[in-house]
Amino acid sequence: MSTLILGIESSCDETSAAVIEDTKILANIIAGQEVHRNYGGVVPELASRAHQQNIIPVIDQALKQANINKNQLDAVAFTRGPGLLGSLLVGTSFAKSFALALGIPMIEVDHLKAHILAHFIRDDQRDPVPKFPFLCLTVSGGHTQIVRVDDPYSFSILGQTIDDAAGEAFDKAAKIMGLPYPGGPVIDKLAREGNAGSYSFPKPRIPGLDYSFSGLKTSFLYRIRDELKKDPEFIEKEKANLAASIQSVIIETLMDKLMLAAKETGINDIALAGGVSANSGLRDTVTATGKKLGWEVFIPDFEFTTDNAAMIAVAGYYKYLRKEFASQDITPYARSSF
Ligand code: KG4
Ligand code: ZN
Repeated sequence: MSTLILGIESSCDETSAAVIEDTKILANIIAGQEVHRNYGGVVPELASRAHQQNIIPVIDQALKQANINKNQLDAVAFTRGPGLLGSLLVGTSFAKSFALALGIPMIEVDHLKAHILAHFIRDDQRDPVPKFPFLCLTVSGGHTQIVRVDDPYSFSILGQTIDDAAGEAFDKAAKIMGLPYPGGPVIDKLAREGNAGSYSFPKPRIPGLDYSFSGLKTSFLYRIRDELKKDPEFIEKEKANLAASIQSVIIETLMDKLMLAAKETGINDIALAGGVSANSGLRDTVTATGKKLGWEVFIPDFEFTTDNAAMIAVAGYYKYLRKEFASQDITPYARSSF
């Protein structure tokens, strides 16, 4: 007997609903929020309001596309955190009422673990998945972590950022250059036309497996400010080279610690997760490094790099197998719990 799970994701600025049958996706609907574009970042109040507007149409559409009736669902999985509290409350409250009305269990899911478990979404049981234990570099707008995963329930953080996340470094660099939010994809695109050796920025020196990106943002800002004094057209003329240069420092920084973690643990199954894993430079570098060092590399399909409910549903599926259900008095958390 297969299990049908509805997944709901509302931690930041994407309202998403997915239906999975065991680990196979039947629908994965994502509604982005255009309202933040003019503000250079996500505005929490506007995000909650947009989730409130989107959630029912998105769930309706997911059920329709999956071609199932809500009464066929075995459970509803939702993102409990980390994320914006007001946004998380929309998904959590919806999951509670839905589970109560249908008389089915609800399952709380940690957003960051879900990003990692997205690697276990598969249509066919023969599709390759990481072998346990594996290391996952989770790089998103809010987090940068190297996580050791021993099974679908055991995660330990080996290193993480002490200030900005890698996605934030991309977004802030883009903002400094006057590019639209989110800046990561824009920098990625520009970088392909630029020369990464044009400008050098210092790599952060942090001991162990932790990261830091706030100094990089400051040196990028100062360099641009100085150049603008000499030539007001500097950004316009140099944006591709600037994008390529900042992107390459971010990638090198990410890779240095990832290689160290693989060496220290002796683990050779390496996965990427989170929004920044959509970056073409990072994907190419991890693949090339994997070839050189004998890693088995797992890079998520583009649709599962940024926030989506399919990853919430698959993470929910593993908890369903263990009957790890949530109760009606559950509340979201803004910060990571693991
Ligand atoms: O995982 P995600 O969708 O949301 C969070 O949980 O934060 O990640 C969003 C982050 C943003 O900072 C965005 O700029 C970055 O992922 N991002 C990228 C690319 N696509 C998205 N960064 C670099 N290159 C990309 N192609
Ligand atoms: Zn995310």
